[in-house]
This record gives sequence, structure tokens and C-alpha cells, in this order.
Amino acid sequence: MSSAPGYFVSFEGGDGVGKTTHVRLLGEFLHEATGREVVVTREPGGTGLGTELRRLVMHGDDMDPRTEALLYAADRAHHVATVVRPALERGAVVVTDRYLDSSVAYQAGGRELSEEEVEALSLWATDDLLPDVTVLLDLDPQVGAARLSGEPDRLERAGDEFHRRTRETFLRRAAADPRRWVVVDASAGLDDVQAQVRVDVAARLDLTPVVQEAVTEPVAEPDEAGATGEARA
Ligand SMILES: Nc1ncnc2c1ncn2[C@@H]1O[C@H](COP(=O)(O)OP(=O)(O)OP(=O)(O)O)[C@@H](O)[C@H]1O
Ligand SMILES: [Mg+2]
Repeated sequence: MSSAPGYFVSFEGGDGVGKTTHVRLLGEFLHEATGREVVVTREPGGTGLGTELRRLVMHGDDMDPRTEALLYAADRAHHVATVVRPALERGAVVVTDRYLDSSVAYQAGGRELSEEEVEALSLWATDDLLPDVTVLLDLDPQVGAARLSGEPDRLERAGDEFHRRTRETFLRRAAADPRRWVVVDASAGLDDVQAQVRVDVAARLDLTPVVQEAVTEPVAEPDEAGATGEARA
């Protein structure tokens, strides 16, 4: 958990489970509910350097697992140093589409590196920054794949067995650390999934009273950069 005044939320899960959709919807909701600045971002690729790294790692040549793990870690280090930490220190809510657990699930759960070493690499890269809450959108990989259109990228092409192991790694990590994780069944309709995400994230961040108020009362227009500072219990 970060000691900064903001809140750090990550979304995890396989391809096509709805991460990008729910990151955006939760971000809008938390801004309205708390009046805080909300920074919606993603990995890989939440920065200029990250966009380059994302292109190399997702659409470039095949590469060995250590090279791949290091590129993701480099993206994460830069993202945390230049976007995530400064925002948390301003008191913002940061909602990221994938974070360290994706590296563990994809680079270790799916490939040959150990989970411990991939996690240690990311913790070193981020100077030990973990989310306050991590939402796992859990879905059968075949259902997720069917939701996606367009040409699959290098990781999406990796095969059923790879995606099954990846899902299992996410679920195992969530079960091992229930204080950080919430698991949401992503097979329901979009609105139902988002409603569940809101309830679970609000409860985890001690925002339930603020969020209930936002649901029952009209929300005043939040001011510029947001931070009222009242939301934190
Ligand atoms: N609960 C849902 N039910 C049905 N369709 C959904 C649901 N959630 C998202 N979708 C749709 O599935 C598609 C993939 O969603 P989205 O892009 O948010 O997933 P993602 O997890 O970000 O995928 P990727 O791994 O490719 O980044 C979109 O067309 C989205 O509208
Ligand atoms: Mg996405």
C-alpha cells in the first residue's frame, strides 16, 4: 500500500475481459463521487517511452523471456516514476489498466521465468509500489477472445494453454492476498460488472459512505484538479 495521500487502483485479467472499458467507467465514477483528480493510465504504454516499449514488446520480433520481462519492467519503472507516484503525491486517484501482476501472470505464469523473480524485478523497478486495490476481471479466455475484434497481437496469439495458465496465476495471486485483490466475475453484462466493481473498490478504499452519497444525491460539479481531501477516512 502506498503511503501517499492518493489512491492506487489496478485492473488485471486476460485479453478482452473488459479492463479498458471498466478502468474508464470507474475513473469517471470515482471523480464524480470523490471530487478528486483521477488519472486513468495503462501498462505497457502509459508514457512516451512506454508507447515505444509497448510497440516493441507487443508487435516487434519474438524475444526471449528475460528480454521481455526487462522491457516490461523498464516501462513500469518509468511509468511509476513519472506518472503514478507524482499523481498519488498530489492526492489523485490513479486507475491503471494492468500493472505488476500482469507481468507475473504473463511472463512467469505463462512462460519459463519464476513468479518470484518476475515480481522481485517489478518491485525493484517501482521501489515497492503496490496498488491499494487490484481488481481481477475474471473470465474464460475463450469468451474474452471472442469479445475482441481485429488482428491479435503477439501475446494474444500465444495459445489456449498459455491463457489458461495466465488466468490461473491471477486467481491464485488473488486468493493469496485478499486484502489487496477483489475478484469480479466478468462474464456478466457490462453494467452489472461495473456496478460490482464500484461496490468492491469503494469498500476497499473506505469510500463507501462517499460513494453512497454520490448514488443518492446529485453530485456537485467537482472543482479543477479535484482534491477535496475529505474522501480519505
Ligand atoms: N461485461 C461485458 N459483456 C460483454 N461485452 C463486454 C463486457 N465488457 C466489455 N465488453 C466488450 O468487450 C470488448 C473488449 O473490452 P475491453 O477492450 O474493455 O477489454 P480489455 O480487457 O481491455 O481487452 P484487451 O486485453 O484487448 O486490452 C469491447 O468491445 C467491450 O465493449
Ligand atoms: Mg484493453
